[in-house]
Amino acid sequence: MLEPRAAHRPTIIYRPIRPSDLEILEQIHAALFPIRYEREFFLDVVNGHGIVSWVAVDISRLDGQNDELIGFVTTRIIPVTESEIEDLLRYDASRKDQILVYILTLGVVECYRNLGIATSLVREVIKYASSMPNCRAVYLHVIAYNQPAISFYKKMLFKLVRRLPNFYYVQGQHYDSYLFVFYVHGGRYTCSPQEIMSAVAAYFRGLFRMLSAKLRRNEEKSLPRWSKYKETSTLLVTQNKRILGAENATCQSG
Ligand SMILES: CC(C)(COP(=O)(O)OP(=O)(O)OC[C@H]1O[C@@H](n2cnc3c(N)ncnc32)[C@H](O)[C@@H]1OP(=O)(O)O)[C@@H](O)C(=O)NCCC(=O)NCCS
Repeated sequence: MLEPRAAHRPTIIYRPIRPSDLEILEQIHAALFPIRYEREFFLDVVNGHGIVSWVAVDISRLDGQNDELIGFVTTRIIPVTESEIEDLLRYDASRKDQILVYILTLGVVECYRNLGIATSLVREVIKYASSMPNCRAVYLHVIAYNQPAISFYKKMLFKLVRRLPNFYYVQGQHYDSYLFVFYVHGGRYTCSPQEIMSAVAAYFRGLFRMLSAKLRRNEEKSLPRWSKYKETSTLLVTQNKRILGAENATCQSG
């Protein structure tokens, strides 16, 4: 029976995945994720066909299953030019060999959680990405309601760069996703001086519009009641436009 914390402090080791992990890998994915993966995916994972993975096992287990995996991370290399985060990266566009590491799945069996196992697995991924000089970042998607995973990646210093509306379709329902990025080798895109200037200009334009609307409202305080309502709705529209304008003008990697 799996009760590591109650029985003893487990001794966890990390190793590459093997074909013999196939069955348990499929079982854990089915238990942890709302998305169903094809058999082909698991075969690619355990055979290392285009997918690089690490697994955790508890070698101090008392039930003899010392080599059975209790945590895993699966990743794939994606060329920068084929990724959706090209605009968030600083890289030499003339070089066609620039890559990213994409985390496909990460999971830890429930009774082994909060022991730092996912932290160690993701550190392996970051180490792997850092070992490739042409790699610019590690990135991944998390379904918007998965608070433990969101907290986990924030704690690991991944940057939340985007919210993608209706990215997932699970059991007949659409869900947003968050896009997290961990930059390596100076891959982080920073705003150019012109972009910073236009963001500042957009901010002051919005501020000016808001102040002039306020001023107009004060001047028209003596107007009949119906006229005031009209002004209130105009002010709302003006303010909303300002917020949108300022957001669009700033870097998205904040
Ligand atoms: C997310 C997950 C991989 C974390 O694994 P783990 O081994 O427990 O994580 P670690 O022990 O390394 O890190 C713990 C940190 O994760 C976050 N975390 C874990 N569980 C959490 C929870 N229930 N609520 C909020 N934050 C949580 C916290 O930041 C925590 O740090 P803290 O204890 O200092 O607050 C694990 O909960 C899991 O397998 N979930 C199901 C599958 C999944 O959602 N995978 C990620 C999407 S691909």
